Amino acid sequence: MYLGIDLGGINVAAGLVSEAGKIVSHRSVPTPRTPEGVADAIADHVKTLLNEADGTVTYIGLGSPGTIEPDRGMVEYWSNLDFHHVPLGAMIEERTGLPVRMENDAGCAALGEYIAGAGKGSSSMVVITLGTGIGGGAVLNGKLYTGMNHAGLEVGHLVIEHNGRPCTCGRKGCFETYCSATALIREAFRVMDWAPESLLWALAGDKEKVNGKMIFEAYKQGDDLAVGVVREFLEYLGDGVASLVNIFQPEIFAIGGGLAGAGETILAPVREILDREDYARGSSRRTRLVKARLGNDAGIIGAAMLGAV
Ligand code: BGC
Repeated sequence: MYLGIDLGGINVAAGLVSEAGKIVSHRSVPTPRTPEGVADAIADHVKTLLNEADGTVTYIGLGSPGTIEPDRGMVEYWSNLDFHHVPLGAMIEERTGLPVRMENDAGCAALGEYIAGAGKGSSSMVVITLGTGIGGGAVLNGKLYTGMNHAGLEVGHLVIEHNGRPCTCGRKGCFETYCSATALIREAFRVMDWAPESLLWALAGDKEKVNGKMIFEAYKQGDDLAVGVVREFLEYLGDGVASLVNIFQPEIFAIGGGLAGAGETILAPVREILDREDYARGSSRRTRLVKARLGNDAGIIGAAMLGAV
C-alpha cells in the first residue's frame, strides 16, 4: 500500500493508494495557516489512514506547493502561505515515525496523470493545475522534470500581462493572478456589485459563497457578467497554454485542478486559440489538449508513487 498527501492552499488531502494506483481511502481537511498546523493535520491523516491500511506502508509521499528540497525534506518557499525554509518532511517524520518523500504538488499531479491518468503511455506530457494557484509539471520521456530546485514548472508565475495584477510572489501579471480559481472568483466578486441583476447573485445567495462552478454555470446560461469574466479568463488561459505548448510541444497537455471540472467549457475555446497560436499548428502531429483524468486525485496518487517510480 502507498500513502500520498496533497497539500493545497485550501485543503490538505490524503489517500491510501493501491499498487495499481487507485485511491482506496480518502480524507481532506481545510489547510491550517501555519507550518505546525499543517504538520499536525498531515500526521492526523496519516494515523487514521494507517489504521485502515490493508498492508504495509513504508513511506509517506508528500506533494507541496512551492520550491522543494526533497533530500532535506524542506519547503523552501511557498508564496501563497508565506512559507520560508519549512522542514516539513522532518516535522512529519517526527510525528509519524515514517520517512517522507517530497516533490512539488503539481509535479506530483503530473506524475499521477502520467502513471494512471491522461498521460499513460505518452512520450511527453505537461499538466497544469488551476486551483488556489497555478501549478505545472512535465513528464518527459517517462521522467518528471524537476529543475534544479524541484519547483516543478512554476508556470503560475509566468508573466502574461506586463505590469498586471500583483502576485503573492512579488511579480506583477503572473498567470495565476488571471487563471487560477482564486483569480476567477476574485474577478467575479469584484464586478458583482455593479450587476445586481446577475444570475450569480441567485446562484450564490451570498457574494462570499461564489465559486468556480457557479461562475461557469452562469456563463453557460448566458449571464452577461459571467460571460465577460469567463471570456477574459479564457483569453488569458489560451495565451498561457499556447506559450507552454510552444515551449514543450508535449504529446499531451492536461488541465487539472478544481477549475478543470468545467471540462469542454474551458478546453474547446482554448483548443481554438491553439489552432491559431500553436507554432506547430501546421504540423501533422499536434499536442492533444485534454482534461486531467484523475481530477483532484492526481496529486495524491503521484505523491504516493514517489518512491515507486
Ligand atoms: C506555487 C506552485 C504550486 C502551485 C499550485 C503556485 O502558487 O508557486 O509551487 O505548484 O501554486 O499549488
